[in-house]
Amino acid sequence: MLHTEKLYEGKAKILYSTDDPKVLLTCYKDDATAFNAQKRGQIQGKGEINCTVSAALFQWLESLGIPTHYIDCPAPNQMRVKTVEIIPLEVVVRNIAAGSLCRQTGMREGTILPSSLVEYYLKNDELGDPLLTRDRLFLLDIISQAQLAVIEEMAKKINQHLQDFFTSCQITLVDFKLEFGLDNQGQILLADEISPDTCRLWDQTETDPQARVMDKDRFRKDLGQVESAYQEVQARVLGKVKELS
Ligand code: TMP
Ligand code: ASP
Repeated sequence: MLHTEKLYEGKAKILYSTDDPKVLLTCYKDDATAFNAQKRGQIQGKGEINCTVSAALFQWLESLGIPTHYIDCPAPNQMRVKTVEIIPLEVVVRNIAAGSLCRQTGMREGTILPSSLVEYYLKNDELGDPLLTRDRLFLLDIISQAQLAVIEEMAKKINQHLQDFFTSCQITLVDFKLEFGLDNQGQILLADEISPDTCRLWDQTETDPQARVMDKDRFRKDLGQVESAYQEVQARVLGKVKELS
């Protein structure tokens, strides 16, 4: 299938139309940004790693009954996905306090949350992706109450499945960000990616708070060894998926 037209270039991926209107092609880039693109760089091999890790996790979640936009990967850094209208929300699920939760509440990093927290951020770079309240979400008419209930339920199920999966890879799933889209039937599908760019992942075989970081925080906080951390996540995830199949 030839990709015909570049539809959109984001910070980490480029989206192309294909000759089938129901199918889009995403190309994952090595470009890395943080702090709303104020920090820019490259992580060598990231495009392929994030694409292959996302593909493996989408397929695994599909096998557990979670509908996703994933179709297949024609190349290691390319994913064919079902055409959806992306809901402009970043759905963040947290199991352990880190990142903006600590900055905004003063909680100590590493505090285990009594139950998982699902948060909604407006997907809007110009506004800096602000945290929304439920009322603001409905005020902005982003989704209906029924759609929000479906998303919340899906986010919690995905969290359960991903926590189990990463634990079996000796990785702690601290938090992560999901995006959802609506297909032409109005069905809500898990979209975007699940990768070391969009998750906080701590290596259970390391106790040092810096050495254990296996995700984009290595880039955000200049911790070094970014590429090798991403490679290690890829090796453990793909190894586990192979073992399970
Ligand atoms: P936060 O603690 O900075 O709010 O991030 C929560 C999670 O969401 C973390 O796993 C990183 C991920 N994330 C993204 O995928 N994209 C973003 O733009 C931001 C800010 C966070
Ligand atoms: N992806 C976001 C950005 O660049 C933020 C982040 O992941 O920290 O801008």
